[in-house]
Amino acid sequence: MLNPIKLASKNFLSSLDTSLEEFLHILELAKNFKNKDLSIKLQEKVLGLIFDKSSTRTRVSFQVAMSRLGGTTVDLNPTTSQIGRGEPIRDTARVLSRYCDVLAIRTFKQTDLEEYAKWSSKPIINALTDLEHPCQALADFMTIKEEFLDFNDVVLTFIGDGNNVANSLILCGALLGVEVRIACPKGYEPNSLLIDKAYEIYENKNLLKITNEPNTAVLGANVLYTDVWSSMGEENQKDEKEKVFNGFTIDRDLVSKADKDAIILHCLPAYRSKEITDEIFESHKSRIFDQAENRLHAQQALLSCILQ
Ligand code: CP
Ligand code: NVA
Repeated sequence: MLNPIKLASKNFLSSLDTSLEEFLHILELAKNFKNKDLSIKLQEKVLGLIFDKSSTRTRVSFQVAMSRLGGTTVDLNPTTSQIGRGEPIRDTARVLSRYCDVLAIRTFKQTDLEEYAKWSSKPIINALTDLEHPCQALADFMTIKEEFLDFNDVVLTFIGDGNNVANSLILCGALLGVEVRIACPKGYEPNSLLIDKAYEIYENKNLLKITNEPNTAVLGANVLYTDVWSSMGEENQKDEKEKVFNGFTIDRDLVSKADKDAIILHCLPAYRSKEITDEIFESHKSRIFDQAENRLHAQQALLSCILQ
């Protein structure tokens, strides 16, 4: 039976907090959980959830994952706890890590997440920040592996905003050696520090391409991925971005230029007829709901490594 290995890093703040071997191990565990080939019971472990932003998938998949592992979750609503009143992170982290065995945090600044990690005696998981969404990327690459069996020669094209989801895809692509092309409007490129980090990791530097040309970025691609144009916290940019992102919708025309067996991914929630047409969202090429389901299996795998 496959046993979860202890990860070298205490925390999972970034996609780069796992080695390539650890990343593949988590995907293998996740597959086993999904196929019901693996059952792990961690007695009385508690996951604390601190979500400064809304969530459906991440929150519920963490709750169900803990339940399946024989543990439980405490959902700390910032508006009804002292977090919303501005209790310093260093105090909250020191208190909660005396009650909980692990904390999953969704917040704005990556530096705030790092502050939690600095003061918490227990592991911290990034449940999304403005910079990264590493739990999402685990499920994304699990879904890609389900489809193509391995990552050899897979071309992943992300069309849209160079946001947290794009950043995590770039870092995982570098780790796995997957060709990643990002097509975004000028001025909306992914984080330049993370791009530099990715180039340092890629053995073949040609495998990462950042472009402003969606039509060339999709040529022959195996996976077309998109996300909302305005992320949580950017609501005031919505109107402006909708103008700038004209031409960056995944539609029939863009899909026709990709590989004929290309699949479509979206981390959800989606705005139909903005970043993706309803026709493509609902098409036979879509693996969007498998991808959403895989959040559960991937996080169950991650937790089983972190909590053992
Ligand atoms: N994809 C994702 O993280 O969804 P939620 O915002 O619903 O958690
Ligand atoms: N980029 C999106 C992802 C939501 C899961 C956001 O940060 O709002």
